[in-house]
Amino acid sequence: MVGVRILVTGGTGRLGSAVVTRLRAAGEEVRVLSRRPGPDVVRGDLRTGRGIDSAVAGADVVVHCATDYLGREAALARTLVEAARWAGAPHLVYVSIVGVDRVPLGYYRAKHETEEIIAASGLPATIQRATQFHGLVRGLLAGASRLPVVPVPRISFQPVDVRDVARRLADLALADPAGRVPDFGGPEILPAAELAEAVGEASGRRRRIVPVNVPGETFRAYAGGGHLAPGHRDGETTFRQYLAERVAHGTAVHREDS
Ligand SMILES: NC(=O)c1ccc[n+]([C@@H]2O[C@H](COP(=O)([O-])OP(=O)(O)OC[C@H]3O[C@@H](n4cnc5c(N)ncnc54)[C@H](OP(=O)(O)O)[C@@H]3O)[C@@H](O)[C@H]2O)c1
Repeated sequence: MVGVRILVTGGTGRLGSAVVTRLRAAGEEVRVLSRRPGPDVVRGDLRTGRGIDSAVAGADVVVHCATDYLGREAALARTLVEAARWAGAPHLVYVSIVGVDRVPLGYYRAKHETEEIIAASGLPATIQRATQFHGLVRGLLAGASRLPVVPVPRISFQPVDVRDVARRLADLALADPAGRVPDFGGPEILPAAELAEAVGEASGRRRRIVPVNVPGETFRAYAGGGHLAPGHRDGETTFRQYLAERVAHGTAVHREDS
C-alpha cells in the first residue's frame, strides 16, 4: 500500500518512535501525536481530548502506542475511538501485552479492557499482543544489581526488542484489519536469574544471583508463564545482543531507564 496517511499515538515513546522510524523508512506519510510540541508532531492529549479530532482527521490508519500507567488506558482508547468514528473510521492498530487476561496486574486489566473496547468499537481494527520489551526486563533486573546479592523472582521472561515489535506493527498498519492477531514474542525464554546475570556481565557488576519465590497471585501467574508466548518466538534480537549494543553505544546498562 502506498500513500497511506498514518497517525502514530505514542510516537515519541520507546515503541512508537521505532514504529515511526520504520514507517517513514518505508516512505509512508506519518504524523506523530504528542502532548508536547516538537518537530513533525501534532499536538493532542488523549486524556482531555484536546487536539485529538484534528490529529485523527484524514488518517487512513492510527497506530495506537500511547499508554497511561495510572489506570486511564481505557479512557484514552475511548477518546481515540470516538474521534476515529467521526474521522471516517480509519484502521486502528492497538498494541497490547501477552497475558493481559492472565496476569492480575491493574495495568494489564486496563489493557485487556482496552482491547475489548477496540474490538467492540465497530472500527476496522487489529490488536497485537507482545511480550515484555528488553528495556523493561533490563530495568527490572538492573535496579537490584547494586546489591552484593541479587534476589530475582523465580520466573522466566521472553524479552523482545522494540524494533522487532515495530516491524510487525508497521506491517500490520499497511495490511487489512485483522482483529486479534497471533502474539508476538521474543526469540528466547530465559529464567530471570540468567537474564540478571547477563545484565551484571554487561555492566561489569557481577553479583551473586539468588532466585526467590514471591508470595501472591501475580507472582503465581508469572511463574505459570501467563506472560509468555512459547509458540511465538518471532523477535530476532536476543537480550544479550540488545545489552551488547547498549555497551557498544556507551549507554548505561545498570540504569533503570529504558
Ligand atoms: N514495555 C513493555 O514491556 C511492553 C510490552 C508489550 C506491549 N507494550 C505496550 O507498548 C505500548 C508502548 O509502550 P512504550 O514503553 O513504548 O511507552 P512509553 O515509552 O512509555 O511511551 C508512552 C507514550 O504515550 C504517550 N502518551 C501518554 N499519555 C498520553 C496522552 N494523555 N495523550 C497522548 N499521548 C500520550 C506519550 O507521548 P507524549 O509524552 O509525547 O505525549 C508517549 O509517547 C504500550 O501500550 C505498552 O502497554 C509494552
